[in-house]
Amino acid sequence: MPNQYLEQNKQRFLDELFELLRIPSISADSAYHNDTISAATYIKNKLISAGADNVELCHTQGNPIVYGEKIIDPQLPTVLVYGHYDVQPAVPLELWETPPFEPTIRKTAVHPNGAIFARGACDDKGQAYAHVKAFEIMMATNTLPCNVKFMIEGEEEVGSTNLGPFCIANKERLKADVVLISDTSIIANDTPSIDCGLRGLSYVEVEVTGPNRDLHSGVYGGAVANPINILAKMIASMHDENNHITIPGFYDKVLDLTIQERAELNKAPFDIEDYKKDLDIKDVWGETGYTVLERTGIRPTLDCNGIWGGYIGEGAKTVLPSKAFAKISMRLVPNQVSHDITELFQKHFESIAPAGVKVLVKPHHGGEPVVTPIDSHAYLSAEKAMEKTYGKKPIPTRGGGSIPIVALFERELGLKSVLMGFGLDSDALHSPNEHYGLENYYKGIETIPYFFSFFAQK
Ligand code: BES
Ligand code: MN
Ligand code: MN
Repeated sequence: MPNQYLEQNKQRFLDELFELLRIPSISADSAYHNDTISAATYIKNKLISAGADNVELCHTQGNPIVYGEKIIDPQLPTVLVYGHYDVQPAVPLELWETPPFEPTIRKTAVHPNGAIFARGACDDKGQAYAHVKAFEIMMATNTLPCNVKFMIEGEEEVGSTNLGPFCIANKERLKADVVLISDTSIIANDTPSIDCGLRGLSYVEVEVTGPNRDLHSGVYGGAVANPINILAKMIASMHDENNHITIPGFYDKVLDLTIQERAELNKAPFDIEDYKKDLDIKDVWGETGYTVLERTGIRPTLDCNGIWGGYIGEGAKTVLPSKAFAKISMRLVPNQVSHDITELFQKHFESIAPAGVKVLVKPHHGGEPVVTPIDSHAYLSAEKAMEKTYGKKPIPTRGGGSIPIVALFERELGLKSVLMGFGLDSDALHSPNEHYGLENYYKGIETIPYFFSFFAQK
């Protein structure tokens, strides 16, 4: 019955997602604050019409959180569904083949049946909205087997800073047995997988100041430290010849996996030639002694995300700039602690700065790494649900990205999460031409009710 309902409502489910995708709910830019409210309101209304109770926009100092629930019997287990309706900025706009907030369907090599191109299509509107539609199906076909609570936030892409306090203030309301999240990837459409770990994050912005004003690079050049040259060298020095990070103490808390665990992780299908071809690179790069899957799954990183300063307009301007800037992210693994790593970075960055410059390190948001169990009833329910719809048992994997709130769910609400995602790494999340396979969207909607039914069978 649920599958028949899905079949009959496919087009409407797609039209509704398109409407949500047209709202530019970019959380990083406050100019879009009203759009975040529109996106939240859209989801709120759809939860109400699907039959959820106590649906509301919970206002925060930032963007609202959509909450809603259906308690069919307090004795039954409760699934807390988490997702986010906020999206990354769409710039650079000129690299989009069709405008980011005008969803269109195109075929691609990995999505021969078509994919929806729009910012947020995969991350995370398409995946979060699949839960709203799966709920509608279960309500309409009278098959909701347990209780469900929804918490769809609008600040995931900026570190979920207001969601943490909201969770702590609403512990009773958020009582549940598990958190179900679709905001990660599977290996391929014919190779389902479930992430059982996420990396944490430390994010800093640095400012290097040389002379008190921009100078003539001929008159002063050679005698005064150039903050851009210095900053580039400082950043480069943070990896050694083995691409190991040189910040003292950086690896102190890193949990090394056993040989068996590493062997298990490397069993996941991965073709390095396909990987290189997809990215148009001649070789991969990374820490000596680790495979690509390990480098992105179980090892920490340091990357410069942006660097600027000096003259970048047309033509040449001979200037020795006063300042240089960079944004740097560090992906963390168990048991590194975001705050501690930020401090280690700051101390190190200050210590390697030559006397000719002043440096300033501004910490941004962070998040802690997590590992989720693969032997829990909830994980096994997700495994069975995916096996049902993909015809194959999903492989446990480690996700390289971060969802900062997941560690807090465990710490503050005592809840483990199941990361049952349906996207692909190649769906261009955060990049121009982000997309989400039609098949992936519908497969999610089909799989979620199975999760509920397996999970309810304690
Ligand atoms: N959905 C992603 C995280 C993700 C993607 C995990 C793919 C695993 C596989 C999430 O929206 C995201 O982008 N998180 C940010 C964190 C943040 C604090 C900006 C990230 O990982 O950069
Ligand atoms: Mn996401
Ligand atoms: Mn994201």
